Amino acid sequence: MEIAIIGAGYVGLTTAACLADIGHQVYCADNNIHKLDTLRSGQMPFFEPHLASIVTRSKAVGRLEFTSPEEAVDRARAIFICVGTPPLENGEADLSAIEHLARVIAQRARGYRLVVEKSTVPVQTGRQLQKHLRLYNTNALDYEVVSNPEFLREGSAVEDFFHPDRIVVGVESPRAAKEMEQIYRPVLDQTFTCPVHRVCPCNPNGINDNVQRKPTFLVTDINSAELVKHASNSFLAVKISFINLMADLCEASGADIGMVAEGIGLDRRIGPAFLSPGLGFGGFCLPKDLQAFVRIGEKLGCDFTLLRETEKINLQRTGHFLEKVKQELWVLRGKKIAVWGLAFKPGTDDVRYSPALDVVRRLLAWGAEVQAYDPQASANARLQIPELICCSDLYEAAHGVEAILLLTEWKEFREADWTRVRAIVNRPLVIDGRNFLSRDALTAQGFVYVDIGRRSPQEMPAPMRATH
Ligand code: UDX
Repeated sequence: MEIAIIGAGYVGLTTAACLADIGHQVYCADNNIHKLDTLRSGQMPFFEPHLASIVTRSKAVGRLEFTSPEEAVDRARAIFICVGTPPLENGEADLSAIEHLARVIAQRARGYRLVVEKSTVPVQTGRQLQKHLRLYNTNALDYEVVSNPEFLREGSAVEDFFHPDRIVVGVESPRAAKEMEQIYRPVLDQTFTCPVHRVCPCNPNGINDNVQRKPTFLVTDINSAELVKHASNSFLAVKISFINLMADLCEASGADIGMVAEGIGLDRRIGPAFLSPGLGFGGFCLPKDLQAFVRIGEKLGCDFTLLRETEKINLQRTGHFLEKVKQELWVLRGKKIAVWGLAFKPGTDDVRYSPALDVVRRLLAWGAEVQAYDPQASANARLQIPELICCSDLYEAAHGVEAILLLTEWKEFREADWTRVRAIVNRPLVIDGRNFLSRDALTAQGFVYVDIGRRSPQEMPAPMRATH
């Protein structure tokens, strides 16, 4: 099918490249001419594993073109709206880019068009979209609006596209549901050449024969699909804030959050995911979606205190972590501190709403000398904090420091050569904001290791020491 993707950000570009990879003709559009030139020249505007290679191969076979929104709208049968919906000052989502696009579609497109809302939007946006398409329709455009929320995680967005748990489509007619099913057919049947795995976990014979692992295709009304997206992200946020609250309780009561989280997560009704305590959630989705959802609740007269508290707990995480830093270092002014990790999570160069940057800002404000290192996010971090000293590897960052702060759980930090690190630090102290490093590896080298909500083996009853 000929598909337009409007908005070449994380969601748009990933969706465009992956839809082209499963056989569609895709026109990926953006208003930012500089970004289009970058993409046409074969460069990527951001780092996302596997994305560059599928963009290159889809471009090479002519299935992926970069163009203007107008041209993409003219040429495609299905138009996916993937433009940004950044937060306004009051936390509400700014929908002006969507409104503008509705006019462009209504005034330019002819014949039948499927208008697919993929940007994260408040419930009832589909209704507004339908209204504006109707108001500005000058070409007897025959359109249907669909809500198709995305659940792509940064750092594993390509994998999430090909192996989703579910594909949700909010529609008003069987025809629109059928068109969407057709678009996603190879993903629903798991019949594609996977760009991520040589042998897919759910696809051992090349063709998926494990029916249970096929994604669910969930057809709903438009309002419900819109709600699924905000509700999913808000639920994940609640889970994280809950486990962070439990970590605080563990510290106060002498329990161990690792054991508590394991005990909770073994209940299949709860599950083990999103129960890692630490600096809290960041990135451009969870924090802003939570805020927007609170505003939606308020507007529709629902009491969303639960979500407001979730946000409040999250905002307190970096302060809680910095208390530990102060407890260990006492005075921070003039002290050299290594920061390992700047991205809001591993696998991405994205620093938007990154708790790590919040920590760095406060350390700098207190007069500490920060030596930072991140495998991918240094350049983006320096755009936000120009005075930040970024090092070329984790060892350079650790040179002569009084403490190493682990803020993002990149694998290479776990694989550090601790003998080498021990030889270059001024004081062997590691404060782990993600409970990510191996206490044994560190203490074996004489480091003092501080983490979040866990007990050291010495504090454990004897039978537990061997296993934790
Ligand atoms: C999220 C949703 O997961 C995805 O479905 C949606 O489409 C976009 O928003 P993303 O922002 O890429 O994806 O990151 P995610 O993996 O969800 O992590 C969000 C934040 O929560 C990160 O800062 C991460 O470090 C934090 N987190 C996650 C925790 O603090 N603890 C956990 O147990 C899990």
